[in-house]
Amino acid sequence: MEALDSYHMMLSLAESFSTPFVIKAIIKLGIPNILAKSDKPIHVDEICTILQAATGQAHNSEIVRRLMQSLCRKNIFEEQPAGVFGHNSLSRWLIDGTPKSFASLFLLTTSEAGQAAWHHLHELALEGTSSSTSAFAKAHGKSIFEFAANDPVFADLWFGFLNSFGHIIINGVLEGYDGFQSVAQVLVDVGGGTGLSVSKIVQAFPHIKGVNFDLPHTIASGTQNFPGVEHIAGDMFESVPKGDAIYMQKVLHNWNDEKAKAVLKNCYNALPVGGKIIIVDHIFDPHQKTVIDQDLGMLVFTGGKQRSASEWRELLASQGFSNVNFKPLPAVKFQAVIEAFK
Ligand SMILES: C[S@@+](CC[C@H](N)C(=O)[O-])C[C@H]1O[C@@H](n2cnc3c(N)ncnc32)[C@H](O)[C@@H]1O
Repeated sequence: MEALDSYHMMLSLAESFSTPFVIKAIIKLGIPNILAKSDKPIHVDEICTILQAATGQAHNSEIVRRLMQSLCRKNIFEEQPAGVFGHNSLSRWLIDGTPKSFASLFLLTTSEAGQAAWHHLHELALEGTSSSTSAFAKAHGKSIFEFAANDPVFADLWFGFLNSFGHIIINGVLEGYDGFQSVAQVLVDVGGGTGLSVSKIVQAFPHIKGVNFDLPHTIASGTQNFPGVEHIAGDMFESVPKGDAIYMQKVLHNWNDEKAKAVLKNCYNALPVGGKIIIVDHIFDPHQKTVIDQDLGMLVFTGGKQRSASEWRELLASQGFSNVNFKPLPAVKFQAVIEAFK
């Protein structure tokens, strides 16, 4: 019995890469959005008729049914009765264009550029300990940020991911953290991406003047105008704009310790005495078994890492920050606000 179970487990591991690709196919066909528009589950033949009307192309209903059934077997979507498909709580996350969508994350991680990175994972084990390279850079000769600057198709996926995932994170922050009221005036979002997070903070706390600071190509092509937010282009490894407080969401886990220290040093220099840095990032427990791999994505895509609470304390203390507080965010598992002061 035990041998058979481990045999099945190995088979399932060997084909586990397939699920994100089936999800990608379903998203590219637009099926999660078609089902979301209907007030009742839809038969696969009707799904194909809707797809044909929208695209002018006939769709093979047997293939669509097999794709949908493969996801139903994993409890994504529901088939009830046979051939009739509807959403369930998992599949709703795949509806594209909503503030709570994982569609863009699946499209990004299953993109050809994203997948190519994983083929180079073993090469990182041959790098020296001070290396800051990623599997993505090994595959493409440049970092994911430089790649996004030069490849418009990938940039669309990247900014789509930042927008939808940014929504989920910032909503969790605004729900679970009460420290923005005390920001005197200027809050600088370092590596702010599209500017969505700081714009939501300014909306909730209108006394704050928001600055969204990111690389020139992000500011030029990934941002929109948000009331109360100024976009500033630059390089956080050179300097960051001065502010009363600094916000940094999902940035430091992209970098190894040496690089993260360089960013923190520039943040420290940009703050007044008593000024606060508000970091939103992962708190990693390497011994906790979870259904997600919390650490390897960083190694593959950016060359960064997730850090435990004591590693965060050490990192912040090394650049002069003190009074470090951790405020876990219940709405976004494993994420916390890490507050520290100059
Ligand atoms: C994972 S994204 C997080 C974006 C945003 N904070 C969010 O949570 O949606 C990391 C951001 O760091 C920015 N970044 C990378 N290198 C940078 C640099 N040298 N200076 C400023 N920003 C940088 C990237 O362009 C990207 O927007």
